[in-house]
Amino acid sequence: LIAMNWSALVHHIFILFPLLPPPPPPLFLKQITIISDIISHSTIILNGLHCCILFFGNGLVTARDHEQWYKQRRIMDPAFSSLYLRGLMGTFNERAEKLMDKLAELADNKTEANMLHLLNCVTLDVISKVAFGVDLDLLKNSSPFPKAIETCLKGMVTYVRDVFFEFNPKNRRNVNEVREACRLLRTTGAKWISERKTTMQNGDEVPKDILTQIIKTASQEENMTEEDEEFMLDNFVTFFIAGQETTANQLGFCIMALGRHPEILEKAKKEVDDVIGMKRDISYDDLGELVYLSQVLKETLRIYPPAPGTSRDVAEDMVIDDIHIPGGFSVVFNSYVSGRLERFFKDPLRFDPERFHPDAPKPYYCYYPFALGPRSCLGQNFAQMEAKVVMAKLLQRFDFTLVPGQTFDILDAGTLRPKSGVLCTLSHRDYKNK
Ligand code: HEM
Repeated sequence: LIAMNWSALVHHIFILFPLLPPPPPPLFLKQITIISDIISHSTIILNGLHCCILFFGNGLVTARDHEQWYKQRRIMDPAFSSLYLRGLMGTFNERAEKLMDKLAELADNKTEANMLHLLNCVTLDVISKVAFGVDLDLLKNSSPFPKAIETCLKGMVTYVRDVFFEFNPKNRRNVNEVREACRLLRTTGAKWISERKTTMQNGDEVPKDILTQIIKTASQEENMTEEDEEFMLDNFVTFFIAGQETTANQLGFCIMALGRHPEILEKAKKEVDDVIGMKRDISYDDLGELVYLSQVLKETLRIYPPAPGTSRDVAEDMVIDDIHIPGGFSVVFNSYVSGRLERFFKDPLRFDPERFHPDAPKPYYCYYPFALGPRSCLGQNFAQMEAKVVMAKLLQRFDFTLVPGQTFDILDAGTLRPKSGVLCTLSHRDYKNK
């Protein structure tokens, strides 16, 4: 809200603030070129996530040293190549199918579904399986992980907004909870890494998944230092959290938006019927044909970007459009604000997937839910493939309506998520006869 109010003053919100105290007043800039020049710059390193470093360490999202980041990114890239991602379609289908089974049960029993909770289970199941080779099956088994992830993210956002939070004795319980949640994720990472390393040392075949790449990003030596071990855990936590929560939130918002716009929902269903029909498994080629569903997912990210902002450090002085940007400043970009400005999107609060029609003009540096440039999201294609498989199966199998009276507010919990949890009632579709 504050960001939207500021943007009313300056049209676009880019805030510069110095990295070292004492802080002079922030500068507000409105030129779009600032975004194109800074966010896409090849050597300016992301860092606004200073606070998040405490949680993600030197992992890929928060690494501040350019060389260290570049080395990691190159090693990780193969695990996100389109060839590798195609090979994940089986897991995407299989895990989404478990969600459909759960939804069928809820539909049969006429029980309300908390969609966000169920989606979190699926996305965590997917990342655990494809990234770390571990079967959690969270729709059947209870697990402390979803709560631990939520607690870590909440802790992170609290720390960003109030650096003194942890020193106030009345917050001790909260602080301990966050520490405990971080510890759980890191000890789990240590266990899974150690098991994988043993398999590798025994010369057994291992998948070329994210866990294998994480181990490669650390020292190749047999005797790893404590620093190497910590570094692997940083990346474990990075992928465990970054690879799951955002996608679940996008899916939750998408279902909420479709529930509020029956005509868009019908159009999306029709496309799924035409492309998928009654097929059980969705293929990689099918995904390319679900054009309208892609538009719906993109529009969801415009109004509801789960990761609403980013920042870049400006190492040395820069001049962009005659504006002097001093070195040593951090520039903050807010995609939530950009996505909601009349200046960039006509009638911006209207949910309208036609904005992303393949023939429509492409948004120019005002739409960046995955950031832009070299530090943009590595998991973008992974996430959108997974999201499409889940949405396509949901639309193919079920009619759903939003439970009346729930809020459509957004909860800012580090990432943005639907506050209500997106409560739905479901019924089986007679899709086989369509
Ligand atoms: C809808 C889902 C997702 C959204 C909206 C999203 C958004 C973002 C954004 C905005 C960034 C840039 C952060 C910054 O500049 O401050 C980012 C970075 C990153 N994301 Fe995602 N993400 C999503 C899903 C995923 C998934 C599924 C994975 C992994 C499987 C992933 C892995 C990463 C990594 C590793 C980075 C750091 C890239 C680098 O600095 O080189 N993300 N993501």
